[in-house]
Amino acid sequence: MSAAAVLHVTGARPNFPKAAPVIRALDRRGVRQSLVHTGQHYDERMSEVFFRQLGLPEPDINLGVGSGSHASQTAGVMTGLEELMTTARPAIAVVYGDVNSALAAALVAAKLGIPVAHVEAGLRSFDRSMPEEINRIVVDHVSDLLFATSPDAVAHLGNEGIAAEKIHLVGNPMIDTLLANLDRLDVARIRTALALPESYLVATLHRPGNVDDEADVIGLVKAMHAIADQLPVILPLHPRGRRHLEDAGLLSHRALRVVEPLGYLEFLSLVRGATAVVTDSGGVQEETTMLGVPCLTLRPNTERPVTITHGTNRLVTRAALADAVARAIAAGPPDTRRTPPLWDGAAGERIADVLGIVVH
Ligand code: UD1
Ligand code: UDP
Repeated sequence: MSAAAVLHVTGARPNFPKAAPVIRALDRRGVRQSLVHTGQHYDERMSEVFFRQLGLPEPDINLGVGSGSHASQTAGVMTGLEELMTTARPAIAVVYGDVNSALAAALVAAKLGIPVAHVEAGLRSFDRSMPEEINRIVVDHVSDLLFATSPDAVAHLGNEGIAAEKIHLVGNPMIDTLLANLDRLDVARIRTALALPESYLVATLHRPGNVDDEADVIGLVKAMHAIADQLPVILPLHPRGRRHLEDAGLLSHRALRVVEPLGYLEFLSLVRGATAVVTDSGGVQEETTMLGVPCLTLRPNTERPVTITHGTNRLVTRAALADAVARAIAAGPPDTRRTPPLWDGAAGERIADVLGIVVH
């Protein structure tokens, strides 16, 4: 791999819409960049489709680590990256979000003395049973530049003793990608393609806390069936929980349809036209906030409270889900729309401005 000033490390689905605007903004500034794909996600629908639809450059290298336990996946990325970064010696490594690929890359770069920039720094659920929370904390504490999407994230970093001069409130690059693609979202087309009526619900489920326990998913399936009693549900299902959910009878309700993960444009088109969304995804909480679509998050906490204070998000339990959906249907689309500060489509530019100073 040729020497580049900025080395981006991506690997899992949520990384791709976050990296795209940063890479584009650095490109415009003529910065030499390289892109590593760790291979954490590898199905066409979990990876390649994003590169195609979002105009991401072909990765310079794919480490092909694939799936495994936390230790084996993280170790695989670390081993591959150590060799690569030792040779490439970029001026800075940029990591995205809270996935294992980001953790592995931050640890390797920090130990090689390569500065680390963390995009989406400072988010905290304060729930260490989530693997992502461990990743967030470790990545933030070995990073040299911390790009935050919201003021609460800046406050958390300050409270943890991270120096203010390392922290930059830049807005949300995931939202840059959404805003840049708004004109390409086609609700009528996806509704026709999936034979959906005018009103429908969209769901996504993949958090270990929701889908990993074989016995516990029975309650989740019941809750999903109770919402399908009210409106048709379309569920583009992440591969993680598929077997458990299907074994627990997910497919036995005729108004609940499971499909393969969707491409970015198809998925956001679907969300844009939905009466409400039920999810445990991080990114989807943010996207629904921007699109003004009611979002019911099946989690006890969120690292993205700004989507509640400024957006359409509400945390719900399985027991409360059916009532919450009924209320969302009755209320119709929210009539006032507030968005979090700096979620304006220019986060990638702000990040590139700061990175540009470091590499020049
Ligand atoms: C990972 C992230 C999570 C993020 C999610 C986004 C970590 C610790 N977790 O969770 O924060 O919200 O990505 O989607 O990094 N699989 C496939 N095909 C693929 C990828 C995965 O079938 O292309 C299946 C495999 O059975 C695998 C399982 O999904 O074991 C989980 O994949 P993994 O990358 O370990 O974690 P995610 O649950 O995807
Ligand atoms: N997404 C998609 N197709 C799908 C589900 C999700 O394109 O079928 C997109 C969507 O933009 C979402 C992003 O992938 O915000 C990341 O989703 P995921 O829920 O996997 O990760 P998280 O944000 O929870 O880490």
